[in-house]
Amino acid sequence: MDEFYSRIQIEGATAIVRNRTHFQPTVGVVLGSGLSELANSVENADIIESSQIPHWPKSTVTGHKGKLIIGRLSGKVVMMLQGRSHFYEGLSVNQITLPVRVMASIGIKTLIVTNAAGGINPSFRGGDLMLIKDHINLPGLAGNNPLRGPNDDQVGVRFPDMTHPYDPELRKIAREVAAQADFSVQEGVYTYVAGPSFETPAELRFIKMIGGDAVGMSTVPSVIVARHAGMRVLGISSITNMAHLDPDESDATSHEEVLEAGKEIVPRLETLLRGVIKRLD
Ligand code: HPA
Repeated sequence: MDEFYSRIQIEGATAIVRNRTHFQPTVGVVLGSGLSELANSVENADIIESSQIPHWPKSTVTGHKGKLIIGRLSGKVVMMLQGRSHFYEGLSVNQITLPVRVMASIGIKTLIVTNAAGGINPSFRGGDLMLIKDHINLPGLAGNNPLRGPNDDQVGVRFPDMTHPYDPELRKIAREVAAQADFSVQEGVYTYVAGPSFETPAELRFIKMIGGDAVGMSTVPSVIVARHAGMRVLGISSITNMAHLDPDESDATSHEEVLEAGKEIVPRLETLLRGVIKRLD
């Protein structure tokens, strides 16, 4: 298989999606670990099995279902990805970002990405929601950037600016929606690691030192591809567990804990998603 996708391959995948729905989505939503039941709130949904779309990466992780749901939410037409693929599953960074390339090619202008993350900032608690204001792409800084390879100038520039990876206006709307619904949201820097092993205490202290407020194994490659294509992005992390920076004080971190906490967060996340989508132009 080719290392990089051509425009023809992306358009081929896009054509299959277009053929299976009469909707024209304007908002893309990626649902992270333990959050996939949010897709049930989409009305009149067309459901596409991602296995039917050429080049679409397969999701192999519990809590990631691999379906595309296209329909109405809060008066807008959304395309939701119920589950995503990760670099740690053995896929390339190009493969895991193909869904966002397809979203861009279908004409989606706003992307909302959600994920489960470990909390590093000591003022956070498990069960918090964090609006992502910036990110640190550790694998990317070391060479694994999703834009590595030939650049399609019709999609975006070779060297995209990353001063505002997460749209300040969308974050403001999200804060207002949370305030109206009477719950608080944190804001912070998401640090992307490749996984799948959770971080060691020393790695976590390093991430804290370089300015990370939360840590997780997804999202950032998709955001870079989305920004390259000119989409505006809202990123929301569910802080499913506090990361253990001190080995003497802590229990183990587990995927089950992450999925359980995700369930408790779903109602607030749903309020946030519905409220923000309603207020989009
Ligand atoms: N580390 C990395 N990824 C995660 C974590 C974590 O503690 N929690 C949820 N996803």
